[in-house]
Amino acid sequence: MKDTSFAIHPDHQQTAEEVTFQDIGNVTAVSEGSEAVSLTCEYGYVRISFPAPGIARVKMDPKKMPEDTSTAAVVKQQQPEKITVQEMEEVLAVKTEEIRLSISKYPCRITMYDKDGEAITDEQQEGMSFSPRGEVRVRKKMEPEDHFYGFGEKTGFLEKRGEKMRMWNTDVFAPHNPEIDALYQSIPYFMSIRNGKAYGFYLDNTFQTEFDLKTSYETYSITADGGALDYYILAGPAPKDVIRQYTSLTGRMELPPKWALGYHQSRYSYRSEAEVRELVEAFKRKNIPLDAVHLDIHYMDEYRVFTFDEQKFPDPEKLVQDLKAEGIKIVPIVDPGVKRDETYLPYQEGMEKNHFSSYSDGSVYYGDVWPGESAFPDFFRGETRKWWEEQQAYYTNMGIEGVWNDMNEPAVFNEKKTMDNDVFHEENGVFKTHRELHNTYGLHMSQASFEGLKNKLGGKRPFVLTRAGFAGIQRYAAVWTGDNRSFWEHLQMAVPMTLNLGVSGVPFAGNDVGGFAHDTSAELLTRWTQLGTFTPFFRNHSNIGTVFQEPWAFGEKTEETIKKYIELRHKWMPHLYELFQEASETGMPIMRPMMMHHADDPNTLKLHDQFMVGEDVLVAPVTQSAAKHRIVYLPAGTWYNYWNDNEVYEGGRYIMAEADLDTLPIFIRENSAILEGSVKQNADAKQESLRVHVYLGGTGSLSKRIYEDDGETLNHQNEKYFSESISISRDNDIISIEEKDIHAGYTPCWNTKTYVLHQVPETIEVYINGSKQEIVYDKADFRAFV
Ligand code: GLC
Repeated sequence: MKDTSFAIHPDHQQTAEEVTFQDIGNVTAVSEGSEAVSLTCEYGYVRISFPAPGIARVKMDPKKMPEDTSTAAVVKQQQPEKITVQEMEEVLAVKTEEIRLSISKYPCRITMYDKDGEAITDEQQEGMSFSPRGEVRVRKKMEPEDHFYGFGEKTGFLEKRGEKMRMWNTDVFAPHNPEIDALYQSIPYFMSIRNGKAYGFYLDNTFQTEFDLKTSYETYSITADGGALDYYILAGPAPKDVIRQYTSLTGRMELPPKWALGYHQSRYSYRSEAEVRELVEAFKRKNIPLDAVHLDIHYMDEYRVFTFDEQKFPDPEKLVQDLKAEGIKIVPIVDPGVKRDETYLPYQEGMEKNHFSSYSDGSVYYGDVWPGESAFPDFFRGETRKWWEEQQAYYTNMGIEGVWNDMNEPAVFNEKKTMDNDVFHEENGVFKTHRELHNTYGLHMSQASFEGLKNKLGGKRPFVLTRAGFAGIQRYAAVWTGDNRSFWEHLQMAVPMTLNLGVSGVPFAGNDVGGFAHDTSAELLTRWTQLGTFTPFFRNHSNIGTVFQEPWAFGEKTEETIKKYIELRHKWMPHLYELFQEASETGMPIMRPMMMHHADDPNTLKLHDQFMVGEDVLVAPVTQSAAKHRIVYLPAGTWYNYWNDNEVYEGGRYIMAEADLDTLPIFIRENSAILEGSVKQNADAKQESLRVHVYLGGTGSLSKRIYEDDGETLNHQNEKYFSESISISRDNDIISIEEKDIHAGYTPCWNTKTYVLHQVPETIEVYINGSKQEIVYDKADFRAFV
């Protein structure tokens, strides 16, 4: 009955329970230190500090003066900024070099200004408050021109004004539609853009939280179910500054192994060694690049983690090693639930050493997942994480270098979809309820997997893929967006979802290519693979009982196109790898919303169906069935069609791009360069050449960085990398290239480097570091090769 119109029967309508929030009231006392100022208010306590330049932190606790503690999401308290405080009759002014706060005392209301004196955030009728149930809330003014992004992994479009979003990690098999706002990841953070300037907001609270940008048109409110109201404002002013500030708080991705950037093939499940070998053979026979095969739950012995089914996978080590010799990695799924089975070692050990989450009376919590009744490691305990780290040896001893952590919300097959709220976890020696820590279960599981693999891999880079996470998940794992479906709507949604994850500090993200549940089609799989070519994580995965969707599943024509795009991924690898390296240093996503580099252009603010790869490459995937064209917005400037650079467009307008089923529209900004490698069967294969494609206007200039390292070890952290900066300028018929090694700690793997100068006349003269070069000219395409 719930699924019929009976659900909206007038007799059953209830109005939401009205909860009265208590304002913290007037400021009654101020105490200032050199790095923080503390306010005693009538009904609450506030501590304000500036953990780093451009970042302000406000922490309110209704009961006591807040301590300087943070959740596990925050990596470090950096060198706090010195402050100056000026107390006036009604107002308190608190200043650092980059931020100024004006605090009205009667009642306590905070306005924050940037260096130029422009208000970043403002409070009026309401500021900070709390409810008798222990909720805490802050409300801020929302201007008509404010736009909102981030919020982690959410359904719907890119820009989130008008949405109300809940943060509570949830296993949602179906549906992923616009009204399902709590999925697997909770990242209580957003970036806002107002008239070209950006700021960020991060709520450091692991309880269930709600971001309400819907109920009032003039204000937004952020509510946490419990704990302190601990929020950070990141002053920007450019989107990239906000990302840098946010990831300085919550950490950045370590550079992943190159193989993890390749094409992954998965299925729930490839059920036997024979099936896996056949799959790999098919890729080889067809010369389709393949970097990793994922093993879903059927590889295990009755779904016991850290086991293989001995019948179906008689010699897993040999399988792993044989595939590895061909450059293909095995990535097994590892869920948190440990089967309740007294004869099974991980369960025995976990019980003996108290590693499982328990109730306050010490009895272990059991919940049903794939293996039936299971216990769930208390990943909040350092000792339990250590134990889980040790378990990774089971995989690494076979030669496995990456794992896939699923069901780690944690998912439990019951009404609430997770474990009981009153289960206890022990975090840094303090017992806390699951209600408080739920959202960080996946974060800590990923942490244990990542650190375990890293310790066991003897200097090689680990790869962890996770479904659940919290702010900071980027430090440990790549994220895929869970159980999407083979619907065009889900292909459409994959773009903004991945973009908003990138804005939320998670650069290494992607979606099940082809769609997980439901049956895909030739056309949908083709279009989805085209998008996958440019999503940072690129994996085809499908559900049990659905049609097979390996690249050849729909006949030769489809296979040919899909192969072309998997190959394209390898061609773009040097370009993508450079962006991954940048992400590891600055937090900047690889796949970026248009607004990231065009915040001043109102046309970009809501664009959800096209994106930038880095700063200068625009990708406009086709996400409509039967479409052969699509509208693309080109921001101001000049743009080259990647597939046919005789087509040059003036931007600042919409164009109709041709996009038959073979074509993913890609545009390159004038005065930029892209790096192209050779088609390889996987990351292990030798890269023979590097091409630098240069798109320069008549009198343009650009600079481009090349980054390389061995792609698999941690040696790059010890100076063993290569980095070169190339500056190129054109003065009509003369092009000058200046190459400068900025770091030569590694010898790059390509033998030749070729410049491809696009749209230049035959009379072009090219100089590299001052010396004139021979050119080969292609008259048909107006290109010079040097
Ligand atoms: C979950 C995962 C999915 C996986 C399945 C079986 O639904 O999201 O990717 O295939 O479990 O392990």
